Amino acid sequence: MSKIAVLGYGVVGSGTVELFYKNKDKIIKKSGRDLDIGYILDIRDFPDSPYADKFTKNINDILEDDDVKIVAEVMGGVGDAYEYTKKCLEKGKSVVTSNKELVAKKGAELLKLAKAHDCNFLFEASTGGAIPIIRPLHQCLAGNDITGIEGILNGTTNFILTKMINEQMSFEDALSMAQKLGYAEKDPTADVEGHDACRKICILSSLAFGKHVYPDWVHCEGITKLTLEDACYAESWGGAIKLIGSVKRTEDGKILPMVRPAFVCYGNQLSHISDVFNGVMVYGDAVEEVMFYGRGAGKLPTASAIVGDIVDAAKMNGTSVSQVWEDSPDSSFIADYKDDVVSVYVRVRGVTGEKISSAFGTVEYLSREGQPDDELAFISPAMKERDFDAKLDSLGGQVLGKIRLLDM
Ligand code: HSE
Repeated sequence: MSKIAVLGYGVVGSGTVELFYKNKDKIIKKSGRDLDIGYILDIRDFPDSPYADKFTKNINDILEDDDVKIVAEVMGGVGDAYEYTKKCLEKGKSVVTSNKELVAKKGAELLKLAKAHDCNFLFEASTGGAIPIIRPLHQCLAGNDITGIEGILNGTTNFILTKMINEQMSFEDALSMAQKLGYAEKDPTADVEGHDACRKICILSSLAFGKHVYPDWVHCEGITKLTLEDACYAESWGGAIKLIGSVKRTEDGKILPMVRPAFVCYGNQLSHISDVFNGVMVYGDAVEEVMFYGRGAGKLPTASAIVGDIVDAAKMNGTSVSQVWEDSPDSSFIADYKDDVVSVYVRVRGVTGEKISSAFGTVEYLSREGQPDDELAFISPAMKERDFDAKLDSLGGQVLGKIRLLDM
């Protein structure tokens, strides 16, 4: 019998144990191996848990038990999670993880380590929650030249935006609800400032383009500056504001990964994705486009991806089939977002139409109910972002909102 160890008994860890025992017979049949959870590592005590006899606080219990073949790392962060993952891989134990920070910051190194020790490092749960996106990208879509990916990659912010716009809920109340539902990160700054989506687009970019993309190299903006007024203008324009993570190949052969709120027109399916759901569009030369959709966060949806990886790891016992991408010594293959050509929604106070025309030429004006007399909102013509910024600076007045249009 092969044992599984679960590192961390938080939302995802407890969901993994719950789902494993709920569907144990089916999981064993699908994996073709006799499996059981041997250990649950957590620094806390759970004396009333039905699995109380499996808890340990000592990673060595897991490392030294040769029957442990698969480890589910669901602790988060890159401290102990990184050290324990390395030690498990060095012992030839496959590691499956939901930890996007770990994959985004250490993925190239851990994949190499897994290969060297004939085991696997799998991370379907790290991006898109329940949605299968990692495996499709490096297996099912492997025949394509991938040209771009764009998507809603953070459930918490999509939940907050949906509640704010559809139910006029305050940002704080919507965030606190997302925390209660187990969607948000331990420190929700990572969600609302876009860092979580950034880690996910780094993982997808590394997979699609074969070179490790580190989060520090990616331009990232969150949703904290968005207002209901901006959402009203988006609606009058014919779309919705979404936090978008994207990457595309640029004309000079570089790639441009980015995270930012964007006006997404109603013709784009991403504009209709609400609540905790995520959606990812992948563009390739053979498929043109494919879309993946599902619950992006939460206990059982994320556990579903973890348990799926456990089954895969069990099937591949002794062989290393996980994707390997190159480490990147520098960011010279990342394009400067300021060179990207964009149209931008702008909301200003105390600026005349003449000034706007003389800076931007012909623009499309937007309106909203209750629009104050001294407020103007418009969509700029498409131009390089650095040129747009210079023109915006020349306007004077007060810039109340600035949101790019999704162009891919
Ligand atoms: N906090 C993350 C989200 C969890 O809201 O998408 C899933 O990665």
